[in-house]
Amino acid sequence: MIFGNRKKIAALTDRIAALKEERKALKNRVKELERTRGTGDLVAGVPLNDLCYNSDGLSVWGKNLAFLEEARFKEAYRKGVASGHRFTTGGAEFHIEWRVHVAIWAAGIGLRLDGDFVECGVNTGILSLAIADYHRFSERDRVFHLFDTFNGIPEEQMAPEEREKKKLENRLFYPDCYEQAKENFAPYPNMKLIRGRVPDTLESAKIGKVAYLSIDMNVAEAELAAIQYFWEKLVPGAPVVLDDYGWSAYEPQKRVLDAFAEQVGTSILTLPTGQGLMIKC
Ligand SMILES: C[S@@+](CC[C@H](N)C(=O)[O-])C[C@H]1O[C@@H](n2cnc3c(N)ncnc32)[C@H](O)[C@@H]1O
Repeated sequence: MIFGNRKKIAALTDRIAALKEERKALKNRVKELERTRGTGDLVAGVPLNDLCYNSDGLSVWGKNLAFLEEARFKEAYRKGVASGHRFTTGGAEFHIEWRVHVAIWAAGIGLRLDGDFVECGVNTGILSLAIADYHRFSERDRVFHLFDTFNGIPEEQMAPEEREKKKLENRLFYPDCYEQAKENFAPYPNMKLIRGRVPDTLESAKIGKVAYLSIDMNVAEAELAAIQYFWEKLVPGAPVVLDDYGWSAYEPQKRVLDAFAEQVGTSILTLPTGQGLMIKC
């Protein structure tokens, strides 16, 4: 009997200790919620209102964003966004630092490899000018080939499901920008503008090995043609940045690019920026 009571007492003592722990955890949780009242939840103990990046469809908190503070990055980014691109935010300030960071990083990988750089879909050159400035491209012994109509998306390449949106994009964002692009790239003799429709213009550039490829034409047919053309030219390890791949409004591009990736036995990484990243392997 005495033995049985002792067992019960021990079990009750354990239960009391467990309840005390639970009470402590709940008190802490209440304290955290009080600290962030009205701001939603906490993630890893960081209140949601402590956003350290909140732009371009990307809200981020509690991360180390040292790249944003790097003087060399700031200057390169400034050069890119000052290129004269017609912005999409109706006058509000446009921030695509994280996308530019990805492109600069990928170009840095390309510089360790043998081959030229290529961008299909250049417009006034936000990404390519930022890369050129950050990596001092004019001092590099390689060419950056820049393909664009410099006059918008060719209508005949728009699939029926893309047509309405693409025609609007052409009207809003892609007036002729060839003269502006020529002026922007004038300080870089090894950055060559190739005006015309991708894929029609690709052969004319006589490109051999490619160490960095950026595709940003906002239309599935041309993007598929570009990756098909350059895949064999990409050297092993070369990065391919697909600017619109992960954006829900650009689903047709994702579909054809995923099918291509599967065909060549690889896959595309969706980045939180909305970009896709592929590595030639
Ligand atoms: C989103 S903009 C490119 C932005 C650019 N990457 C930047 O960093 O500023 C898309 C560009 O793709 C071009 N484009 C679309 N379809 C094309 C095609 N089939 N051939 C060549 N250029 C094309 C458009 O003229 C437009 O300038």
